[in-house]
Parts: sequence; structure tokens; C-alpha cells
Amino acid sequence: MPGGAIVSMGGVDAARMEAPVTFKTYLMCAFAAFGGIFFGYDSGYIGGVLGMDYFIETFEGLDKATTAAADFVIPSWKKSLIVSILSAGTFFGALLAGDLADWFGRRTTIIAGCGVFLIGVALQTASSAVGLLVAGRLIAGFGVGFVSAVIILYMSEIAPRKVRGAIVSGYQFCITIGLMLATCVDYATEHRADSGSYRIPVALQMLWALILGVGLFFLPESPRYFVRKGKKEEARQALARVRGQPADSEFINLELTEIEANHLYELQATPQEGYFGSWFNCFRGSIWEPNSNLRRTILGTSLQMMQQWTGVNFVFYFGTTFFTQLHTIQNPFLLSIITTIVNVLSTPISFYAIEKVGRRPLLLWGALGMVICQFIVAILGVTDYDDNKAVAAMIAFICIYIFFFASTWGPGAWVVIGEIFPLPIRSRGVALSTASNWLWNCIIAVITPYMVDTDEGNLGPKVFFIWGALCTCAFIYTYFLIPETKGLTLEQVDKMMEETTPRTSAGWKPHSTFAGEMGLSVDKAGLAPAVSHQEV
Ligand code: BGC
Repeated sequence: MPGGAIVSMGGVDAARMEAPVTFKTYLMCAFAAFGGIFFGYDSGYIGGVLGMDYFIETFEGLDKATTAAADFVIPSWKKSLIVSILSAGTFFGALLAGDLADWFGRRTTIIAGCGVFLIGVALQTASSAVGLLVAGRLIAGFGVGFVSAVIILYMSEIAPRKVRGAIVSGYQFCITIGLMLATCVDYATEHRADSGSYRIPVALQMLWALILGVGLFFLPESPRYFVRKGKKEEARQALARVRGQPADSEFINLELTEIEANHLYELQATPQEGYFGSWFNCFRGSIWEPNSNLRRTILGTSLQMMQQWTGVNFVFYFGTTFFTQLHTIQNPFLLSIITTIVNVLSTPISFYAIEKVGRRPLLLWGALGMVICQFIVAILGVTDYDDNKAVAAMIAFICIYIFFFASTWGPGAWVVIGEIFPLPIRSRGVALSTASNWLWNCIIAVITPYMVDTDEGNLGPKVFFIWGALCTCAFIYTYFLIPETKGLTLEQVDKMMEETTPRTSAGWKPHSTFAGEMGLSVDKAGLAPAVSHQEV
């Protein structure tokens, strides 16, 4: 750990460290959040398409079961392949995105992701057989991987600390809108007797990529990326734009000095040893130190794993099939739409709660709420649920479970992974965590049909015992491992993780600055570093 006196924040108190939040700042971040629409729409449309009569009857290579009763059944392994291949592409896309974001910039990588995504969607739209559809979903997945990993990084880096949680939750809100739009479009086209039934939902995604890609040209690059690259003047200009302040204002001087000082501090603690060495940095240190890089990487990746373990995508990917199995349901498609609407309407609660209540309590309460709902659904499922009342109760508790997910774990997991990594490993840490989200998303998409399909595990509502048990793990996990990051700058989060344990983190107050520790002074013309990048 680098030496240097810890300087009391004194005049450099937390409030002065950052400019007031302007409307323009909100607009910039809200626009970036639009990337969530990709994520949600792309993962959401496929479930409906797999249930469309025209698709099942005419699409080549589905190997439908041939017995009369099962005419409309696609074998489980093909369903798994078509659904999960997107997450496989996204997994690799997200991993690569971390490097690209450090080499070419956060904004450029997102724009590149939009381009890759457009190619994948064009292939899917043109497809009339499984081979091309799967290839198109793999390529589109790559693009979604770029976008989903780097948007979190970009938003966390440009958002002001006071509203960072709320703003990153905006990304989750867009994911939910994407999912809902996909379900509604599927619903609108499902009865068409031509290829428009599936081609319209597929092709519409191009619009999201075009809007995001073109819009991002007008947004600034992340100032923290420029600091990483040692480009101080560009960092100053970018920060001035995202904060809506003059480039030489005191706010900009202070914030920039602190970002730079933190970066120098972390670089001293993290040896830079070429490409593989720098990847290795993500796994450096001991698992027992709360602030080691290894611990943070495990935290980010396991948090996203837990988010998938909540079983939420069981409802969104396989909801239509599941509701069909609850015999008394007349219109399973409509129920899927209702769950996606509950998801959208509940997410904005997190905008307020994540800043007011904090990340840790939100994740704890969310896990508890989900556990209760899931066990109720599972217990109702082992009763005689041909009874209409039992089915209605199950549906109600599934909706309450989605409410808990959407207002807590949905946004919370994304907010926390954007905050816990220090700048030298941030892009890779966020990329690894996002890749973990997709990996588990993929694993769950692959195994779910085997658990619930009538000709396979046929678990029906009993599958909620599994999700309930996994959410119990999420509760215990949060209690022991998730730190409170609310209201701190990313640099202060770094310090807090060094000085506290997850359970004591909420009481931590900023008491020193990295600029003080590193001996950096602030002057109007720019930074006067006592330590240069070369010396580190
Ligand atoms: C999850 C997705 C999920 C979505 C539902 C996201 O945070 O990562 O897997 O489909 O929330 O809203």
C-alpha cells in the first residue's frame, strides 16, 4: 500500500467534491440507459416466437415431435439451443468488451456493439431455418455482450455519486421495457399466417441498435477512461460536459484530482505486467481481504450469478409454457404480458429506494420477499391446483415475486457491480461480472426445459422449491458479503472497502482524500501531480 499521510478532508468535504446534478446530466445518463432495451427485448422475444404456430409449422430444422398430440412440440434440446445461444454469444461478447473498453473507450465499444448486433439481427430476420437463426442469435449476442457490459461501466463512471444508483437502475428499467415490448410485439403478431409472425419481432430490434449507436455519437467519452489513458485535458473536458460545469471550475478540479489520485494509488498497489498480467490483476490478493481484487471479482461475478439464481428468467423465458401447464389458464400469453408489466411498473421504486434505503438493505429485503413468494407458489403447487382459486393465488404470488425482484435485485445487482472495482481493473471486473450474468442466464435457459417439460422432469410449479432455496442462498450471501456503497464516489467506495467489512460498511464516512494521500494538489490550470504515471 502506498505511503503518504492521510489528509483530513477538511475543506474538501464530500459535498464540495461534486457539482450539483443538472438536468442535462440526467438526460445523458438516461439516454445511455436505453441500452437496456436491447438486453430486455433480445432475451424476451424468443419465448413467444417458439410458441407461434406459423413458426413451429414452417421453420425448417425444428424436428417437431411427430405424434399427433405432440405435433406442436419442439424438442427440449432445440428449444434450449435457440434460447440459450444468445447468452452464450453475450458471455463471450461481455468478456471481450472489457478489453475493448480500455483500449478504444467505453463509448466506442458500445457503438461497435450496436454494429455487431445489427449484423446478427439481419441474419435472424433473413432466416427460415434453425442454422441461420442460431448463428444470428450468437452474433447478436456478441453485440448485446458489448453493450450490456460497457453501458454499466460507462453509466457508473459518468453518473454523479448522489444519483448513481438511481441512474444505473434506469438501465434495469429499460431492460424491463425491452422485455415488455418484446412480449407485446409477439402477442400482436403471433396469429399471423405468414413469416411476419416471427420476422416482425426479430427485425424491430434493429431500431434499438440504431437509436443507441447514433445517439452515443453525441455523448462524451467517460472521463475516467481518459484518466486511465493519461489524457488529462480530454478527461477535464469530458468531466465538464457530464457535470454541466465550466472546465476550470473548482468542482471539476476537485473531482478530477481525486479520480487521478485514486488511479495512481491503485496503480501503485496493482503491478502492470502486460496483457495477461493485467488480467491476472483481477484475481490478485487474498479472498479474506475485503478489498482485494480477487475478493471484488468474486463478489461481482457471484452477485450476478445470484441474480440469475433468483429464477426470474424462468418466468420471462418459459412463462408462457409454464402457464399453459396450469391447465385452467385460458390465455397464457396474456399472463406473460402481465408479468412483464408488473416488472416494468415495479422497477422505478428502486430509483428512490436504492439511494434512500441503500444497496444492502434493498438486496436483503428483496431476497426475503422472493423467498416467501416462491415457497408459497411451490406449496400451492403440491396441493390440488386444478382448483381455480389455487391457480389464481399462484399467479398473484408470482406477480408479487416479480415485484420484489424488479424493485431490488434487478437493478441492485447492476448498480453494485458498477461500483466495487477500482479503476485499473474496473472494465474487466464489470465485464467478468456481466459475463457471469450471461453464463448463468445461459445455464438456466439450458436446464429449465429439462426440469419442467412434461416429457422431461415435469416439475410444474414444484420448480419454485428450487428457486425458493436459491433465493434463500441469495439472502445469506447478501448478509455476509454485500457492502453498502450508497452516496460515495467510486473512489470513496474503494477506500470504504479497504477499511470496513460488508457488515460494518454502512457506517463508514469519508475521512480523507486520495489526492491528500498521493500528495496531489489542485490548481486552476490543471493537476499538479507529485507522482506521474511513468513513475508508478
Ligand atoms: C436480469 C435479466 C432479467 C431481467 C428481468 C435483469 O436484471 O439480468 O436476466 O431478464 O433483469 O427484468
